[in-house]
Amino acid sequence: MGQEITFAEISPATFTAWIDRFMAVYTAAMNPPDRQLAGREQIMERHAANPAFRALVALDEGQSVVGFIYGFHGETGQWWHDMVAGALATADGAVAWLADSFEIAELHVLPPWQGRGIGRSLLLSVASGRGERTAVLSTHDRESAARRLYRSSGFTDLLTGFRFSGGDPAYAVMGAVLPLRDPRPSAS
Ligand SMILES: CC(C)(COP(=O)(O)OP(=O)(O)OC[C@H]1O[C@@H](n2cnc3c(N)ncnc32)[C@H](O)[C@@H]1OP(=O)(O)O)[C@@H](O)C(=O)NCCC(=O)NCCS
Repeated sequence: MGQEITFAEISPATFTAWIDRFMAVYTAAMNPPDRQLAGREQIMERHAANPAFRALVALDEGQSVVGFIYGFHGETGQWWHDMVAGALATADGAVAWLADSFEIAELHVLPPWQGRGIGRSLLLSVASGRGERTAVLSTHDRESAARRLYRSSGFTDLLTGFRFSGGDPAYAVMGAVLPLRDPRPSAS
């Protein structure tokens, strides 16, 4: 695995054409139940049509996708946005987090490639130069590599123990004021 990794931004059209590749990375990284896979694929397709959609991939030397991230401008009428806005409405002042937000929908790295800085590079790159005031996302509400990555990049918990629907696990909704923090020693 001494391979060079390259990072590339891809268009919404390429993203849509590559969804099977992203599903393979998602499945290996998250190990979701089979019944969720078709739904997740449709959600990704729908997301690619959202405003200011931005996707980045990490590629190995054979041009295989080893990681990806994407997000878009959050707006009323989007499912995640409306669910979180409803829940935040009861938390003091928290609704301002969504007023001008970049919603990061997915970030996954293939297990053999995890822990090498790829996730952090994808996160910092996708948020770099965005015009929104904040970045927001949700992640399983437990201590995890993802949670540590987000915290060290400037994200704080906006909601914890949040369930999008009855059968779902508990999620944490996190937000950061842009630009994100880069804690790497070489960062200026
Ligand atoms: C979360 C994920 C995308 C991070 O990507 P990655 O390439 O492994 O992460 P990086 O190597 O860039 O590490 C970034 C930070 O994550 C945290 N991290 C990474 N691996 C970790 C581990 N094994 N244990 C604890 N924290 C870890 C650390 O805070 C690390 O920063 P540090 O190296 O300065 O300590 C990746 O681990 C993954 O795909 N996990 C499974 C899927 C998932 O949870 N996706 C996010 C859904 S919201």
